[in-house]
Amino acid sequence: MKITSAEFIRSAVSPKDWPAGNFAEIAFLGRSNVGKSSLINSLLGRKNLARTSNTPGRTQAVNFFLINNKFVFVDLPGYGYAKAPKTVRQSWGKLAEDYLSRRENLALCIQLIDARHPPTQLDLQLDEWLANNSKPSIVVATKSDKLSANRLFKNLREIEAALSSERVIAYSSHTGKGKEDLWSAILSAIGNA
Ligand code: GTP
Ligand code: MG
Repeated sequence: MKITSAEFIRSAVSPKDWPAGNFAEIAFLGRSNVGKSSLINSLLGRKNLARTSNTPGRTQAVNFFLINNKFVFVDLPGYGYAKAPKTVRQSWGKLAEDYLSRRENLALCIQLIDARHPPTQLDLQLDEWLANNSKPSIVVATKSDKLSANRLFKNLREIEAALSSERVIAYSSHTGKGKEDLWSAILSAIGNA
């Protein structure tokens, strides 16, 4: 996939901040620290367009990025950061749920799961919510470079069994594994924009 431009549009803390326009949107979802921002950077071949950090819960707003002047990547706040105060956790959940349930130009949800671990309770809840609300979605297992091939194979089958999605794409933002597969899933969701 050739990226001719990738620019940060804005950060939204409520629906009134969402950008206008009818570009198809691809949303990246997953628990805090699972690797959402890294995945976005890796797909785009940009170093730090979406800010990454070792501190979980860093992305606290919905961040929009315009790609090739044709479609939009949406970095949603991570969930499940236990140390965050309850009010903060609730407002993150609300931000994401508002976005997912109300955004009309949402073309694909990419749910990220850490390849090293079974899906958490919150991962399962999100998966169920996406399925119940008929949201087009795919699952990506992140940080696959941290596992042996055998272990990865085994964990992918476990993740597939636990979630409603039929296929899980193994990804590594460090090595680029899974990049082509994920781009083809994205392009087919947006009708090859
Ligand atoms: P929040 O914004 O806090 O929700 O986190 P996030 O999901 O955006 O995670 P982020 O991309 O900031 O990555 C969190 C940590 O995981 C960073 O230290 C990354 O370097 C590391 N990481 C992300 N992806 C990979 C990967 O594919 N492989 C390895 N080994 N580390 C990764
Ligand atoms: Mg992030």
